[in-house]
Formats: sequence, C-alpha cells, structure tokens
Amino acid sequence: MLDGRRVLLVVSGGISAYKSAILVRRLRQSGARVDVVMTASAEKMVGATTFQALSGRPVLTELWTDPLAHVELGREADLAIVAPATANILAKMAHGIADDMATSTLLAAACPVLVCPAMNLRMWSNPATEANVQTLAARGVHIVGPEDGELAEGEEGPGRMSEPEIIFLTAARLLRRESALAGRKVVVTAGPTLAPVDPVRFLGNRSSGRMGLALASAAWLRGADVILIAGPTSVSPPHGPRLVRVETSGEMGEVLNRELSDAAVLIMAAAVSDFLVPSPSEKKIKRGDRDTLEIRFEVGPDLLMATRELREAAGVLTLGFALETENPVGNARRKLEDKGLDMVAVNEAGRADRGAEAETNQVTLIDAQGLIEELPLMSKVEVAERLLDHVEDRVS
Ligand code: CTP
Repeated sequence: MLDGRRVLLVVSGGISAYKSAILVRRLRQSGARVDVVMTASAEKMVGATTFQALSGRPVLTELWTDPLAHVELGREADLAIVAPATANILAKMAHGIADDMATSTLLAAACPVLVCPAMNLRMWSNPATEANVQTLAARGVHIVGPEDGELAEGEEGPGRMSEPEIIFLTAARLLRRESALAGRKVVVTAGPTLAPVDPVRFLGNRSSGRMGLALASAAWLRGADVILIAGPTSVSPPHGPRLVRVETSGEMGEVLNRELSDAAVLIMAAAVSDFLVPSPSEKKIKRGDRDTLEIRFEVGPDLLMATRELREAAGVLTLGFALETENPVGNARRKLEDKGLDMVAVNEAGRADRGAEAETNQVTLIDAQGLIEELPLMSKVEVAERLLDHVEDRVS
C-alpha cells in the first residue's frame, strides 16, 4: 500500500512511546521507509535500539552528530508523524522552536504533518495546549486523538494516544497517491438487511458485510468522503467512513434517498432482503400447541431500481453486486441493464471460499460497455482495491 513512501516518525517523551514501536512495524509491513527521530525524554521511555531494529535504519537523537541530517530528513519525507506528541513538543511546534534534533527536523519538514497527542487530561485541556493545538490545526497540521479512557496515572479522560492501527490508517490516507476519488462522496452499503417477523424473530441472510466494509475502507484510504450504510454485521466497521447503521431494507432505502443526491459513486454491496413481512406481529408468536406456522412474505422494494431515477439525475456512478447460483454472467448482465448500473461484480453463491460469508472472494466484473474481467480468488481487501481501480478510471 505504501511502497516507496518515506515517513519521518518523531517520538517525544510520553508513556505511549511503546505504541509507536508497533506503528513503525505496521508502516514497514505496508512498504514504507521509516526514519525515527527521538527526543531525549523519549529515550527515557523506550530505547533507541528498539526503533532501530524495527525501522531497519539508524535512529537520530542528537542534532550535532550530523549537522545537516535534520534538513535532509525534513526535505525527503512524504509525511511526518509525531507520536506520541507531548504538550511540550506541541508547544514548541506551535512557536517554531527548534532546540533539538526532533523539533529542528519538524521545522525543516516540507511535507504534511500528523500529530498524535498523548498527555494527562488537564495538560490537554489547559488553555495553553488548546491554543497551541488550534494554531497547529490552522496551519494545516493533521491531528488524530487523543482518545478518552484510562490514563497511565490512573485518571480517566481524554489523553490516551490513538491506537497504532488508527494512526496507521490516518497516515495511509494522507500518503495516498493521486486518486480521482479524493474529496468525492462515495456511498457504500454492506451486510444483510433483516425482515422482522415478530419482536424476536427475523428473516435474514448469510452476508458477513466483509466485502462492503473492505470497499468502504479502501475508498476512504483513497481520500473519498465515505458514507457506510451497514446492516447488522458482526465484523467491526473500519476506521474512517461515516457509519450509518440500519436494520431493514426500508431503513436502508431511506438513508440512500437522503445521501445520493450529492454522491459521485454508489457501491451497493449489501445483501438486501427481497422479502418482508408486511405487518410483523407486535407480540412474540407463541409455540402453543400448533404443528405448523405459516408466515406470508411480500416482495419488498428493490433499492437499486427504486433509486434509479435519483442516481441518473445526480450522475451517480453505480457498482452493483450479483450473487448467483447459475448462469452468473448472463444473470449479472440482466441485472446491470434492469437496474441501470455502470458495473456489476458477480460472485457465485454456495462456495466456501467466496461470496457472502467468506474472507476471500472471486468476482467477475462486467460493465455497460461490454467488459468482462474475471478477477482471481483473492482476499476481499484485494478485491476491493481492484474494483476501486475500475471505479476510479470511470469517475475520472
Ligand atoms: N439489491 C437491491 N434491492 C434488493 C435486492 C438487491 O438494491 N431488494 C441490490 C443488491 O445490493 C445488489 C444487486 O441488487 O447490488 C443484486 O442483488 P442480488 O441479490 O444478486 O439480486 P436480486 O436483485 O435480489 O435478484 P435475485 O434474488 O432474483 O437474483
């Protein structure tokens, strides 16, 4: 994901400096080169050797070892991350103070800067810190955290540094290469919708939501403004997209109607329930002494059909999905035409390694111009990237 990107990580003296070691590992795993600079107080928290081993590069702590290193590092980085960022280093950054290797490198940096504050809650809410953070934000410095929770000194409140994975994802979004999706609104639906039968029972389906969640996350990492409309899923939603939880197809339809008029793209990955009980029982249906139970389902709205006019009027590029047990390409092509789609990704139902429940997927992409591209069996995260490449081509 970050092949060839250069990250400068400045570690200042907070207890959460150990979490920055995990961040280095995550950045390296995704292909970035990481240069670590530590303040003298950071070295009291975690040894430079740890960062050296994890980054595979020398760790810089002293300004005078190489008098030009701070200028070079600052010039070459694609992104500077300050994690943890103490109240002290935020104050120095806000006032342009450069009295050690870390602050000199930051002052010489020409790249975007992401700070990850971590401190005691009263230090965070002190008007001096608030003013410094405001100054930095007004200058375009990106800020992630701090999170609420238990602090090292036993108090509760805002002050915890964000988790390494959240910092990594925020950094990855800032490091994205040019994408036609940047700044555009992308609506993604994911997961099943349920059709309630009574207060405790429903008709559902096997969708895990993984494909839609992977698409929402990948679009967000490309800089899109993502609205994720998710039915009940047990998989945690990704960091980044704005999440709207729904349960029924009716609720999903309402949110779509609200969100589509200014959207650039709709990705309809949800397994929308086709059948619903027109008036679910208000009371739990008792077993009693019955032998059978008949429930009458009606066919509910097709959300793609129902939003066709709105999508066409607003020029929303639409990628649909098709889950098929037979004649996948033929059926998918019919769905593409009937539902007014630009593209449809078709996958086969009923196989363990693909489709609704699996972590991997094999899809064939079909578009309105006659393209048929069979993608290999891959993780849903990889499938999402490949599908978004196609979306991106058509948006631009
Ligand atoms: N879809 C929808 N509204 C529905 C059912 C499906 O908008 N009530 C969308 C899905 O999100 C997907 C596409 O339509 O993008 C195709 O869904 P699929 O379940 O494969 O097909 P159906 O249209 O339900 O047709 P069938 O069940 O007959 O295959």
